[in-house]
Amino acid sequence: MSFDLSHYNTLGLSAVANAGHIITDEKSLRKILLRSDYSSQATWILGGGSNVILGPKIDGQVLLIKTRGVSFVPGNKGNDLVLLTISAGENWHQLVRYTVAQGLYGLENLALIPGSVGAAPVQNIGAYGVEISDLLHSVRAMHIQSGEIERFDNERCGFAYRDSVFKRVGSPWIILDVTLGLSTTPHFEVSYPDVAEELKKRGTTQVSGAKLLQSVISVRRRKMPDVRDIGNAGSFFKNPLLDNSKMQDTLTQIPDMPVYPHGQKFKVSAARLIDVCGMKGTKVGGFEVWQRQPLVLVNRGEGTFEQLMELSEKIQNAVMDRFGIALEREPGLLGSR
Ligand code: EPU
Repeated sequence: MSFDLSHYNTLGLSAVANAGHIITDEKSLRKILLRSDYSSQATWILGGGSNVILGPKIDGQVLLIKTRGVSFVPGNKGNDLVLLTISAGENWHQLVRYTVAQGLYGLENLALIPGSVGAAPVQNIGAYGVEISDLLHSVRAMHIQSGEIERFDNERCGFAYRDSVFKRVGSPWIILDVTLGLSTTPHFEVSYPDVAEELKKRGTTQVSGAKLLQSVISVRRRKMPDVRDIGNAGSFFKNPLLDNSKMQDTLTQIPDMPVYPHGQKFKVSAARLIDVCGMKGTKVGGFEVWQRQPLVLVNRGEGTFEQLMELSEKIQNAVMDRFGIALEREPGLLGSR
């Protein structure tokens, strides 16, 4: 028995697992988990497949989470916070659109991020100064071996930049649904230059949820390839976090490098580092560094796992040789080869 995953990952990699199950409800998920023989069968979880690199042969079974449903949590009236619970299999961007249409504020900057709701907390998705951890109330997750369900509040999720407890190697948790705390009172994050400029260009004097949403969509469409047209997994590397002296050192090499303070560290632009290394448009087989945003690697056709890894290492080596900075891959690897 085998299960073809080629159409379940946005990088467009060819991949085959021993087995695959489409999960549409919690009961059948638990049933599959409890009848699985873990000593012989590894279990992998796949949401929208937009932040994973699939090896060509995946040892074990893959669970494709396709649960649906959105509900308001009752009993939180009286202030401007509305709690909304969303099943893991819902599409993230559809959710953003839905909340804006409902007059709920908070998710506008996270528009057009490909993938599912359940995957969003795993890598703590973020864009234009907002991360899901800023809005996340709690997550319900099922233990992969016992089938027990537990609730993780925001703190227990262990959020960091593109990271959470669910992303750590060996995490036994399958996210079932996500509860977000959204506001009925407008408050917008418009400090990122790209978004601020887009709002200005549109002659927007008063920002609204819908205007901010449209601006974010425009900025992303300009820079990012659409996963429906061309295979990619969004940013392929994290922006490196440098200490003060390394950041200063890098600024002497690239004086106009964008720098964002991040706790005790400084986040610098991986896209700029790759750009300065002259790697835009670099190709290995079917994979290529995207011209308009070199943090994105695109599959021009029949790109393979090996070619992707080779291009990725080429970029990491170039940035290491020139700046002494290690670029960390952002999407996770699923399955062994
Ligand atoms: N840049 C270049 N050359 C280019 C393009 C960009 O040097 O050709 C430099 C520019 O200086 C630009 C800077 O890169 O100011 C930053 O670019 P951008 O605003 O696109 O953001 P990013 O830091 O590269 C991060 C996230 C994105 C998120 C954007 C917007 C990570 C790994 N990536 O990218 O998230 O949408 O900010 O906030 O943190 C993702 O995680 O998959 C993702 C797309």
